[in-house]
Amino acid sequence: METKIYSLNEENIDINIIKEAGDVLKKGGLVAFPTETVYGLGGDALNPDSSKKIYAAKGRPSDNPLIVHISNLKALEKIVKDIPEDALKLADKYWPGPLTMIFNKNDVVPKETTGGLETVAVRMPSNKIARALIDASGGYIAAPSANLSGRPSPTVAKYVIEDMKGRIDIILDGGESDVGLESTIVDFTEGKPMILRPGFITQKMLEEALSEKVEWDRAIIDADSKTPPKAPGMKYRHYAPKGELVIVEGNKEDVIKKINELTNADKNNNLRTGVIATEETKDYYCADLVKSAGHKDEEGEVAHHLFRILREFDEENIQKMYSESFKSDGVGAAVMNRLLKAAGHQIIKV
Ligand code: TXA
Ligand code: MG
Repeated sequence: METKIYSLNEENIDINIIKEAGDVLKKGGLVAFPTETVYGLGGDALNPDSSKKIYAAKGRPSDNPLIVHISNLKALEKIVKDIPEDALKLADKYWPGPLTMIFNKNDVVPKETTGGLETVAVRMPSNKIARALIDASGGYIAAPSANLSGRPSPTVAKYVIEDMKGRIDIILDGGESDVGLESTIVDFTEGKPMILRPGFITQKMLEEALSEKVEWDRAIIDADSKTPPKAPGMKYRHYAPKGELVIVEGNKEDVIKKINELTNADKNNNLRTGVIATEETKDYYCADLVKSAGHKDEEGEVAHHLFRILREFDEENIQKMYSESFKSDGVGAAVMNRLLKAAGHQIIKV
């Protein structure tokens, strides 16, 4: 299949391109598009054949449900059975934005879109290109991240092109994603709201908006939990770079010393090495490639750079990677969740 690639400026959107892409979606085709979190691989959420095509293009297991993207609250009423009061409070505060909520679906939403579940994940993105595309497509775009299953989510169009060229109809290049990690997911289908995936909207932000405690799905915190995570996608190895990644945790000096010891040993074995460092530490490492993810205490900055760095290590054929560890509250919880998954939970404490 020939994939058309168009560049768009979020502040001055070419309506003709949006119309063409919207028509492709209406006819059951696939369009990758920018959002403020990561790039999405879109199809008409209400068309079962479109959802099947999404799974095929990504190479994704079909029990892993898709997020439905909408542009206004009226659209939500048409696809869910009921909207809890708390969900409206969160929508009021954080939509449009990097928050996904899970509701009981009604019959309009095909099971192909929800991986066979009776619930549906819904998000209202803030990116203007995404919003224009949703409106041009009929209002409901099912979109997982626009990477091949298992690879790091793309935060620039270059990596969408790498994974999806030849597999989908159109790729819209809207520049770099703001947030850099996928949306926070909150479930509302079991009474109390529960975080199924951490993201830029933090536990504290949710608790502030709801004036109540918001729990985590335990299965995403305990690596050896026997219960599967409630978001099926969280059970798969994910965000995986091609090389092997290990996290090293401890105080600054000890971490630098340990990582340098490990990289020297790898170099003796003729392996190409990389380090995910910070502004404060990047000059102290001796690996073949050292990349700063930002300032140690600015987890938002680290979130913004993380997936791009993992992809860049792949481009440079790095075989062994080490990453510093980050604070695990606030946005740091999302950063550590993705890093641990990318590392297959390999962590060395020094
Ligand atoms: O930021 C984002 O959310 C991006 C952009 C494109 O919007 N999308 C994204 O989609 O990350 P995806 O498919 O890569 O991740 C969706 C996650 C998966 O872990 C999936 O299992 C979970 O959401 N999910 C979707 N529907 C669900 C449902 N009904 N119940 C539980 N988990 C669900
Ligand atoms: Mg994904």
